[in-house]
Parts: sequence; structure tokens; C-alpha cells
Amino acid sequence: MKIIISGKGGSGKSTISSLLAMNLVKNNYRVLIVDTDESNFGLEALLGLGNSQELMEHLGGKKVLGEKMKASFSKNPGEPRVPLFDQIWRIEDIPSECLSVSGDLHLMQIGKIRSFGEGCACPIGSLSKDFLRNLKLGPKDVVIIDTEAGVEHLGRGVAGGADMVIAILDPSFESIRLSEKIRGMAEEAGKPIYYILNKVNEEVAKQMMTSLDQDKVISTISRNAEVEHMGLIGKPLDITVDGISDVVEFILRHAKEI
Ligand SMILES: Nc1ncnc2c1ncn2[C@@H]1O[C@H](COP(=O)(O)OP(=O)(O)OP(=O)(O)O)[C@@H](O)[C@H]1O
Ligand SMILES: [Mg+2]
Repeated sequence: MKIIISGKGGSGKSTISSLLAMNLVKNNYRVLIVDTDESNFGLEALLGLGNSQELMEHLGGKKVLGEKMKASFSKNPGEPRVPLFDQIWRIEDIPSECLSVSGDLHLMQIGKIRSFGEGCACPIGSLSKDFLRNLKLGPKDVVIIDTEAGVEHLGRGVAGGADMVIAILDPSFESIRLSEKIRGMAEEAGKPIYYILNKVNEEVAKQMMTSLDQDKVISTISRNAEVEHMGLIGKPLDITVDGISDVVEFILRHAKEI
């Protein structure tokens, strides 16, 4: 089961990805979080893990992959692009230097933008897409893909290698608007799409539901002072948060169907 976590900037994608990953491990699943966000650097702290080599670096760096990407575009219309990443990997085949691990919790980063003028994030998107397509999972494996804010990953087809998209909505007009866009793009990709309402109280959730397809809302999570504090000091989110167990149960039900 591979799940894309999408949503507006700051809606809680990395927070909820981390909480889900830790809770799935507690349910005896092996979890890989794939960090496809080219900008933010804090995910390993929220998971209590160390840093590892980016997959992009492992494969030669952005420049090398960028050249490979340009060459991969077919010259003949209708002919498919040559993938940037053509190994078939299981989680245990991922090079150990590209993984941060604690028990059944694994984190890998696709790549980050680090320097002024280094160019666009296109190779990161293409690599994410090809890596996810080629990743083979066992019945007790779950992959959570934490994405950058907005819809670029969907525009680049990263969801093509996933089984489901979950959009995180904070209580804002922008989030509701964006969820419509994410839904449309996920449906174009033929992927089921669900919503989590984050940082909401009962009244706000009710109000948001009037603008959303309620059947797609799998959980509501309130603003939580401990989550906020851990997010501020960069410490592991190994805490119980109401609403997360609903999402875990939902994922496990779906995982059995796949
Ligand atoms: N339920 C919650 N209660 C309190 N604070 C929260 C909650 N969810 C997220 N936050 C806080 O909101 C901020 C943004 O969260 P997070 O970094 O997870 O968002 P994001 O969607 O990953 O952002 P980005 O788009 O920058 O990657 C963080 O400070 C985090 O601690
Ligand atoms: Mg994030």
C-alpha cells in the first residue's frame, strides 16, 4: 500500500505522515516514509531518526539525473519516456546509506534543493515517480509519501506509482479549494482520494463538511498543543493524537483489499 499525502503548505502533511508511520509500526507494519519534498528538512526529527544520503545523490546527483531526464524524453510522439530509475526494489533492497531506520520505521529522502541557482526540482519529481512505480511491497509493508505543498507532485505523475491519495486540509478557504484540485488530479490518475481535516474543532469541521464530499473525510484531528510543541522543538511525534487511529484503521482495511 503506497499512500501520497498531499495538501496546502503548513496544513500538516509531514506531521500526519509521521504520526501515521509511527502508529502503523505499532500495528506491526513495516513502514517506509518517502520524503519527496525538495524544500523542507525537518522530517527525520519528527520521526526521531537521523539523516541519510538522498537517493538523488546516490544515483549521481541532480546534474547527472537532469541530463538523464532530458535524454529520456522520447523523440517519437506516443513513445513512453525511459524511466530514470529502472531497478525493481523491495524495501530491503534500498541501499542502507539511503535509509534512516529504527525498528520497522524507515525514512528515505529523494532529494533536496540546497544551493542558489541550482535549477528546478524536475529530476526529484521524476525520480520519485519512477522509484515508487518500481518499489515492490510485501503484505505488511506500507509506504507513506510526504510531498511538497501544492500539486506539483500530482502534475508530475508521482501518484501514478501510488495506491491512494490523502489530502490534508487545514481550516482555510485555500485548503478547500486545493482539495478540489487534488481530487480532480487524483481521479484523473485513477487513484482513490480521501481527506483528513486537521487543526479543526467540531464546529469548524462541520462548517468545512458543507463544502466537501463528506464520504471522503476519513478523520478530523484537532489542534493539539503537544504536537505543536514537538513541531517547534523538532522532537519525535511519538504521542497519542485523537483521530489518527481512525486513519490507521482505514489504511489497514484498504491494505487488506489490495
Ligand atoms: N493537529 C495539529 N495540532 C497542532 N499543530 C499542528 C497540527 N498539525 C500540524 N501542526 C503544526 O503545523 C505546522 C505545519 O505542520 P507540517 O510541517 O506538518 O505541515 P506541512 O503541510 O508538512 O508543511 P509544508 O507544506 O511546509 O511541508 C507545524 O508547526 C506543526 O507542528
Ligand atoms: Mg511538510
